[in-house]
Amino acid sequence: MAALAELSQTTRRLLLASDRDDGSADLARILGHAGRVEAISIFDLPDYPASDFAGVVIDIDLTSVAAVQHVRRKLTGKAYHDLPRLFVLANALYHGLVQAWALGATDTIQRPLDPRNILHRIRFAFPETPEEERAADAEVLSSGVAAAHVIMIKIFQRLPAGIPLALEDVVRAETQILRALKRCSLKQWLLAVNKHHKRSYRHTLHVTGYAVAFAQQLAMREEDQRRLARAALVHNVGTAFVPLAILDKTTELTTDESDILARHTRLGYDALKKQGGFPGEVLDVVLHHHEMLDGTGYPDRLRGDEISDIVRIITLADTYASLLQPDATTEAMTPPQAFAIMDMMDGKLDRALLQAFRPIALG
Ligand SMILES: [Fe+2]
Repeated sequence: MAALAELSQTTRRLLLASDRDDGSADLARILGHAGRVEAISIFDLPDYPASDFAGVVIDIDLTSVAAVQHVRRKLTGKAYHDLPRLFVLANALYHGLVQAWALGATDTIQRPLDPRNILHRIRFAFPETPEEERAADAEVLSSGVAAAHVIMIKIFQRLPAGIPLALEDVVRAETQILRALKRCSLKQWLLAVNKHHKRSYRHTLHVTGYAVAFAQQLAMREEDQRRLARAALVHNVGTAFVPLAILDKTTELTTDESDILARHTRLGYDALKKQGGFPGEVLDVVLHHHEMLDGTGYPDRLRGDEISDIVRIITLADTYASLLQPDATTEAMTPPQAFAIMDMMDGKLDRALLQAFRPIALG
């Protein structure tokens, strides 16, 4: 009974079309354990079935020419094209089976009805219900967040203790992060990240979410999505070397403290450079993600074309994430407020990229 109980929790919607006098009541009762059943006469089959039907179960007399012709007319319509159909055979007669497959059956069951077998077939022959789909999404999402979390631990706990961060570690996490953001929404990613992680982790994971979602929104090649994920994951690696007293300070930083914090770009660059193995563009992002196009950023006061595209994108995501994340001295902003401020940062951020970023920022 466990399987029946489990399946009865689903929200799967099934269409049962029958030409039997009792409307296939016995079958409807069994199918009721697999979802919500709408039982109709085959002569009431709609031209356009509701889009949320997981599949149609056809229980007709396959030796009846009228019934077979009617069902054929309906099921060959475009509206039924992608809908799985399960046919009930009166017995294992070859004729019925051939007829069912000719009518486009994707699976068959036969009388006498075996509830357990039928529910098993329904589960596998018909697509997952939204509920099951959500469970699968949640798993992909949590593996993506977990993979990113491992990198955060390596950066913020192990690296300061002298345990190097290897490029391969980051590359390994990218696949799961890309999958998570492809399958789930950016909002789901952000919610999952907010639930689990410390402030410094959260910021980097937000930036990673924004950068990858942006790349996917722009339909970038997977390799470019990876490059952005990689760069975003390590962009703030240098903050691992900044004293916690400064990172976690709950009041406004003094000028000296701000200067120390600003060194994180150089500290991160030096650490990864010394270690070797990281591509030049990743080092570029680590060192330059606080540069502004008008030359007012740090540490090198780069201007315009001196700032690469990948740095510009990470800077955009980093700025947006920082504006949204309140600290001791600022209030939390709404996405429109944060975007409006970026829009007013005239000459500092890449305008074309900022406009393309609008759907990410404003959902
Ligand atoms: Fe930074």
